[in-house]
Amino acid sequence: MNVLEVRDLMVEYDTPKGPAQAVHGVSFDLAEGEFLAIVGESGCGKSTMLFAIARLLSAPARMAGGEVRFNGVDLARLEGEELRQVRWRDLSVVMQSAMNALNPTLSIGAQLADVCRAHTDWDDARIAARSAEVLDMVSIDRTHLKSYPFQLSGGMRQRAMIAMALLLEPKLIIMDEPTSALDVVASAHSCVRWRICDAVSASPFFS
Ligand SMILES: Nc1ncnc2c1ncn2[C@@H]1O[C@H](COP(=O)(O)OP(=O)(O)OP(=O)(O)O)[C@@H](O)[C@H]1O
Ligand SMILES: [Mg+2]
Repeated sequence: MNVLEVRDLMVEYDTPKGPAQAVHGVSFDLAEGEFLAIVGESGCGKSTMLFAIARLLSAPARMAGGEVRFNGVDLARLEGEELRQVRWRDLSVVMQSAMNALNPTLSIGAQLADVCRAHTDWDDARIAARSAEVLDMVSIDRTHLKSYPFQLSGGMRQRAMIAMALLLEPKLIIMDEPTSALDVVASAHSCVRWRICDAVSASPFFS
């Protein structure tokens, strides 16, 4: 069963000189349990494509064609509450700028709890247990549940965002350069742990 089917995806940016095509008809399938690494030079359209898949595009970008089916549902047709139901629970995204995406006014624990409260009926004990578990998964000490983003390093903030993406065990996690703020050793360990490197090393660029 394919979790994700992308067909002829096209994204354009409206510019004063007219539309600039950033994604030119991309198609691929992603089956359950599969990892897919997308490799390309800076500015080739990777982030734009991922934003389109997750329905996170905003002006001046717009989806100019194609289809994105997630779990058999055409994501382009979902609106409001339907889209909200999918986010975090079924599909989560770690953005390229993840280390700056945390709310500076809330502790890490409060932000993890917010996601759980918005999308599950878990009680406080379960929320606390799962929050500690996901911090373990990204090698951040549980005591940092009480920390605010400014008290963490850039790499720790990036890992906290990854913890948030893992929180509700979504079917699909989209990660846009999720380890860019980590040193190479931590990055390699993380890749092994999250089994990202299998997909990357299988790409023609690394073989
Ligand atoms: N607001 C915008 N208006 C016009 N063009 C834009 C806008 N934002 C991005 N682009 C263009 O879209 C193209 C794709 O950008 P994108 O961020 O998707 O690249 P990327 O592959 O993720 O690069 P990187 O590896 O550096 O993150 C770039 O050429 C960029 O100039
Ligand atoms: Mg990018």
